[in-house]
Amino acid sequence: MILVTGATGGLGHETIDCLLTTTPATEIAALVRDVSKAKDLVQRGVDVRQADYFDYLALVQAFRGVEKVLLVSAVAFTDRVSQHRNVIDAAKEAGVKHLFYTSIQRNSNFVLPEVTESDLATEAYLKASGLVYTILHNGFYFEGLAYLIGSEVPDAEIRFPAGEGKIAFVKRTDLAAATAALLTSEGHDNQAYTLTGSEAYSFRDIARELSTLAGRPIVYKSSELAPYIAQKVAAGIPEVVANFLAQWGAAAQHGILAGTHDTVERLLGRKPTSLREYLKTTYFPGA
Ligand SMILES: NC(=O)c1ccc[n+]([C@@H]2O[C@H](COP(=O)([O-])OP(=O)(O)OC[C@H]3O[C@@H](n4cnc5c(N)ncnc54)[C@H](OP(=O)(O)O)[C@@H]3O)[C@@H](O)[C@H]2O)c1
Repeated sequence: MILVTGATGGLGHETIDCLLTTTPATEIAALVRDVSKAKDLVQRGVDVRQADYFDYLALVQAFRGVEKVLLVSAVAFTDRVSQHRNVIDAAKEAGVKHLFYTSIQRNSNFVLPEVTESDLATEAYLKASGLVYTILHNGFYFEGLAYLIGSEVPDAEIRFPAGEGKIAFVKRTDLAAATAALLTSEGHDNQAYTLTGSEAYSFRDIARELSTLAGRPIVYKSSELAPYIAQKVAAGIPEVVANFLAQWGAAAQHGILAGTHDTVERLLGRKPTSLREYLKTTYFPGA
């Protein structure tokens, strides 16, 4: 039995969608905190189990009879380490053999607030737990672009504090398919994989592609962090959120998200979604 946590969220749900194409529903379990959000999974025969990452006893109960767990990392600003430790300890107590953890890509010493330190702590805890582990260093989702540049085609410019830094964006459904392939194959004991798109793109590249698709000029203007944050706050975004967004620009400048790896391409047997494909289907549907 494979159990996927965060099953009512994006990555968890998409991973179950992929698992269902190769694996009988009777061998798939979903961990959710609100079962009313998982009616479609119940209808498809998935074994839906309820527990919050903070509720140790409920987690132990939910993990009974499970061989592999995909721990979809908890959201930022929510004491991720305590939640992840609970999941790891409960998995061990319930007799789970193998735990996969969705960390984030990092290939420099840059510390992304609210993310890097809790990822490092979780990975160290998992490695010391005695469980078989697989760590997935997930690239930055293409879907996250909407938070950084907006969900509509920009009028004339993109302002973001990323300098010429690049990101090896990966579409979340591609990540989910790669993750499902790892969960259903062997040879991943005590391994770490970096799951990215096959090309890294700067925000200048994004502006250039948008210009081509829109048929009008859209330019990229890099910004310092402080004016970017001030501009977002003036537009009504809470300061903590504006700061967090700006830190992704700083992360890009430090190259933390830039490395490209062919693991997703090998697992999918095709090239992962490119920038042009993503922008075209997301920002110009039906064009
Ligand atoms: N690589 C990237 O670009 C990137 C971007 C954003 C986030 N992330 C990380 O990757 C994770 C998955 O991404 P996503 O897009 O699938 O996020 P998402 O849609 O927000 O899903 C997060 C899932 O975690 C569940 N969850 C949160 N706290 C929980 C708790 N205390 N107990 C049990 N379940 C809990 C949520 O349950 P509910 O449905 O009940 O809310 C939801 O199902 C995120 O949680 C975050 O750590 C990565």
